[in-house]
Amino acid sequence: MVAAGTLAEMSFPEHRARRLRRTPALRELVRETEVRPSDLIAPLFVKEGLEEPAPISSMPGHAQHTIESLRKEAAEIRQRGVLAFVLFGIPVRKDAEGSEAWNPDGIGQRAVAALRADFGDDAVVIADLCLDEYTDHGHCGVLNDRNEVDNDQTLERYRWIAAAQADAGAHVVAPSGMMDGQVAAIRGALDPAGHTDVAILAYAAKFASAFYGPFREAAEGAPRFGDRTGYQEDPANADEALREIHADIDEGADIVMVKPALPYLDIVRAAKDTARIPIAAYNVSGEYAMLKAAAQNGWLDERRAVLEVLTSIRRAGADMILTYHAKDAADWLR
Ligand code: PBG
Repeated sequence: MVAAGTLAEMSFPEHRARRLRRTPALRELVRETEVRPSDLIAPLFVKEGLEEPAPISSMPGHAQHTIESLRKEAAEIRQRGVLAFVLFGIPVRKDAEGSEAWNPDGIGQRAVAALRADFGDDAVVIADLCLDEYTDHGHCGVLNDRNEVDNDQTLERYRWIAAAQADAGAHVVAPSGMMDGQVAAIRGALDPAGHTDVAILAYAAKFASAFYGPFREAAEGAPRFGDRTGYQEDPANADEALREIHADIDEGADIVMVKPALPYLDIVRAAKDTARIPIAAYNVSGEYAMLKAAAQNGWLDERRAVLEVLTSIRRAGADMILTYHAKDAADWLR
């Protein structure tokens, strides 16, 4: 038998962590990681030719928007303190090249212009820059005669898209196609066009992930044949992800992103530890759908699970999080 006093004094002085967990005020005092609404970026979908917003079945709470419903939804989100939006356009007309993507009057550009008209500089309007929603084959670039995505032909189109998005008023363009050299190519198109102020958020470490499934319903961008393993990264490769991140920084990226978030928190941490620029993480559609489905079944407490997920992504080192939970989370965080 050991006397209680002896045990406390001698044996485990380093084990007294519970002292700082006793009260809400103490816990607040020692909390290391905060999530603020302004750390969140809300992804929104806008589809040409819709009369009414069309709910996305695999992403409860989200819809393909009309320009009008987009404006309304963005205003509600902005009102909750979320300052940034990333926009995905879905055109009526798709072709092999994805030419609606750089149409100055295309759906993506109209959506950007609408939000700039509503918010001016009181929100950050980010345009996703890719081709998969715009091509009839659903790949993120143009194809060569062997039906492979041609890197450099695709870069030409990305340059045209960047210029159109910047002309429409995007504060930030976000290339998500994982072509080699895309950041340099886009920077090289923006600057001579007078858009030196438009920033690039590079999807730098984007993995070939099963967790994009619901997004492909939302954005109607599933590849008609094959998959994206020829341009997106192998989930097994961490060193390669860091090479991609640093290559994008060298090419002039202003913000680098890791995507998806939860299965790749080690990459987020490594990026934060080695890159001295803002790090974004994309809490993708499948991560959202998984949590929503469990919550709808009563298997998880949605609010607690969402806030835990967002906290963990921030704790891993993300400065900002693209998340479909943005609107709800902002309500809970206020
Ligand atoms: C491609 C793109 C994708 C996502 C964002 N941009 C899909 C893909 O690469 O297949 C996925 C986002 C999500 O799942 O939430 N333009």
